[in-house]
Amino acid sequence: MPNVRKLVACFALLALSVTTALAVEGGNPKKGKFLYKKNCKSCHVEGGEGKNLSPLNKTQSQWNRLFDKGTHPKKGEVWKGLSEQDLKDINQYLYNHAADSDQPETCG
Ligand code: HEC
Repeated sequence: MPNVRKLVACFALLALSVTTALAVEGGNPKKGKFLYKKNCKSCHVEGGEGKNLSPLNKTQSQWNRLFDKGTHPKKGEVWKGLSEQDLKDINQYLYNHAADSDQPETCG
């Protein structure tokens, strides 16, 4: 039953991500995942306005560089609706599950 195995793996990743050492000062990865789904997935899905994006699309340093710029690469208005803390949280979530992280994430 591969689906059950995938679910279990996702759950394990989630549980692990809560205890992961923080890489972004003051970022909350759990909140970040929620915010990412709410604010980014609306466009970044298969067939959406932006391409299907997941933490795995970039490395940790690439994610940090993106957030250091302080603006969305194409749609500046997207990040204007988010607080500095929201962005830190999203950055933390993406960082924790980036391609070169301990727990790369494809699910969610
Ligand atoms: C209103 C739609 C929309 C929303 C909401 C949105 N984006 Fe985008 N995003 C785009 C479009 C359009 C592009 C340009 C096409 C592409 O590369 O996907 C883009 C590009 C990007 C890229 C560059 C892709 C690459 O490979 O370098 C990143 C990274 C990105 N967005 C991250 C985010 C994050 C993080 C959020 C949530 C905080 C977000 N976007 C929310 C529309 C959106």
